[in-house]
Amino acid sequence: MANDRKPLISGNWKMNHNHFEAIQTIQKLAYALESGDYAAVDVSVHPPFTDIRSVQTVLQADDVPIALGAQNVHQADSGAYTGEVSPSMLAKLDVTYVIVGHSERRELFGETDEVVNAKAKAVLAAGMTPIVCVGETLEERNAGQAESKVAGQVAGSLAGFSADVVAALVVAYEPIWAIGTGETATPEDAQQMCGYIRGLVGDQWGSAAAGGVRIQYGGSVKPGNAPELMGQPDIDGALVGGASLDPDDFARIVRFPLYQ
Ligand code: 13P
Repeated sequence: MANDRKPLISGNWKMNHNHFEAIQTIQKLAYALESGDYAAVDVSVHPPFTDIRSVQTVLQADDVPIALGAQNVHQADSGAYTGEVSPSMLAKLDVTYVIVGHSERRELFGETDEVVNAKAKAVLAAGMTPIVCVGETLEERNAGQAESKVAGQVAGSLAGFSADVVAALVVAYEPIWAIGTGETATPEDAQQMCGYIRGLVGDQWGSAAAGGVRIQYGGSVKPGNAPELMGQPDIDGALVGGASLDPDDFARIVRFPLYQ
């Protein structure tokens, strides 16, 4: 490996699996992975809120080193926010990573960079790590606006963060046109944008932050394309949607170093 950033492979289950299905899935995944896999790669799963306690119980009972994640959070810590879940509630369930600003949250639920920034800050304040998502639409890419869109999202979502905080963050580059479409960015295109993001971080927060921040690629990552994508110098892991629902496929993605 050209750098000492440990890859992070994260499974975003989205709105799939009830808590019984979640238990089966996490048990199968735990069975498929071995200690050597965890030595090479950090692994997280992001079930729906209703599954988190069940998944936590399985992971704790067997001391499985898969990190627990969430897909979203509210920025306030408590109060009159009907239907929302707070950072401290997630932290109490041993959640380590929280996805903020997924494109589905931005596009379907109107989350702005300002909201994403507030959520990321709240996640950090509760002692967890945000996975901050950025990415452009197909129209933006075709219009030559991919970099400016992503640059605006990085600046807005990470506004006010110190260099130390940025160094420990995870940013996920997910081109919207590659999500759930079976269409993956080529390894070169994914590398180009992830390298660009690292450059932005370096310009604003300095070389230690740029060297530390982990940048995931997301968008139709499968067992077959993971090794080449993960082999790119600025790609430090993957945010996996559809393929993370199948424990065997997800385990094969986690084990990408064996296939490189
Ligand atoms: P797919 O892997 O299903 O394309 O989803 C990507 C994604 O949105 C992960 O957050």
